[in-house]
Amino acid sequence: MTLQEKCPVLQFKDLGDERGKLVVIEGNKNIPFEIKRVFYIYESDSTVVRGQHANRESEFVLINVAGQSKVRITDGKSEFIVELNKPMMGVYIPKMIWKDMYDFSSDSVLLVLASTHYDGKEYIRNYDDYLKEVL
Ligand code: TYD
Repeated sequence: MTLQEKCPVLQFKDLGDERGKLVVIEGNKNIPFEIKRVFYIYESDSTVVRGQHANRESEFVLINVAGQSKVRITDGKSEFIVELNKPMMGVYIPKMIWKDMYDFSSDSVLLVLASTHYDGKEYIRNYDDYLKEVL
């Protein structure tokens, strides 16, 4: 399986009508895990890089519900970049995949769905340590 197949871009159905748009997110339905935690990142800008970690336990789906940002995704061998620029798209990031989020527009609201409750100990924050484990 290629890295892009492991980290698919998800296209959500738009249930909008003349009153506006509506996107539904349901754990274990259009998100491939049970959602235990939701957080969102805003008021980042084009000068910051966030993320810069891999997680031993957590799976994530990232969605820019407003504005846009980019996610660089790597497994230490290959990498690809996803531009999150529509509320109806997201990207799935499984365990032990390294991600950097950057190029946030000033109106970016990056919604993150996670499969776990927060536990700082499951984060790998040093890229060399990460490479030692995955290569
Ligand atoms: P951090 O992991 O640096 O955020 P990002 O991945 O977006 O770059 O988290 C910033 C701070 O927030 C850090 O002190 C840990 C804390 N935090 C929680 O307490 N719970 C959470 O669910 C998350 C994602 C972070």
